[in-house]
Amino acid sequence: MTKKILILSGSPKKDGNTAALVEWFADGARSNHAEVEVVKTAFLRYKSTGCVSCRICQKIEPYECAIDDDAKPVLARMTKADVIVMATPLYFFGPSAQLKCIADRIFSLYKWDNIAGIMKSPLKGKTLILLASAYEDVGLDALEAPFKLTADYTGMKFISFLVPNAGLSGDIRKKPDVRDQAIALGRRIAGA
Ligand SMILES: Cc1cc2nc3c(=O)[nH]c(=O)nc-3n(C[C@H](O)[C@H](O)[C@H](O)COP(=O)(O)O)c2cc1C
Repeated sequence: MTKKILILSGSPKKDGNTAALVEWFADGARSNHAEVEVVKTAFLRYKSTGCVSCRICQKIEPYECAIDDDAKPVLARMTKADVIVMATPLYFFGPSAQLKCIADRIFSLYKWDNIAGIMKSPLKGKTLILLASAYEDVGLDALEAPFKLTADYTGMKFISFLVPNAGLSGDIRKKPDVRDQAIALGRRIAGA
C-alpha cells in the first residue's frame, strides 16, 4: 500500500540544512513509491502565533482547529497521513518557532474526556519522525525529548534522525554520509 507522508519543514531558510534533510528523505521515500507532501511552515499565513487555547476543538465533533488559516488544512491532512515528519533546525535547544507555531495546534487532533480519563486522537498508530540539525554537538537530545514524549503519549511510533555539527545553513550538503542516511531512512519508512 502506498505510504502517505506529510513533512512539516520548519526552517525559515528555503535552502538550508533542514531543506536538504527534507529533500533527501523525501527523495528516498518517493523512490520507494511513497506519496510525499512537504509543507514549509515558515511560509504559511497564520491568524495566530500558535495554539490560542480557545478549546473550541474540544467542544465539537470533528478533529478540527477553529482557527481558519493556512495551518487548518495542513492539520486536517495530518489525520490522513501514515507518517508525519517534523523537521527543524535546533534553535536554543528546542525547535524553531516556525515549526512550533503549527505543531502546538495538533491539540485540535485530540479529544480529552478528563472525567472518564480518556484521550482519543486520529494520530494514534501513525509514525512521527523528527529530522533535525544543529551547528554544535550539544542539545539535540533536549530537542528530541518532547517529540518522543508526545509520540509515546499519543501512541505513535517515533523515529529521529539528528545531525550534530551540521554547520551553517547549506553546509550539510557537504556531508554525503548524511545525505545517504537520510535517503535510506526515507526509503525504509516508505517500505515499512
Ligand atoms: C536562532 C538560532 C538559534 C540557534 N541555536 C542553536 C543551538 O542552540 N545549538 C546549535 O548547535 N545550533 C544552533 N543554531 C544553528 C542551527 O541549528 C544550525 O545551523 C542548523 O543546521 C540550521 O538549519 P537551517 O539551515 O535549516 O536553518 C541556531 C541558529 C539560529 C539561527
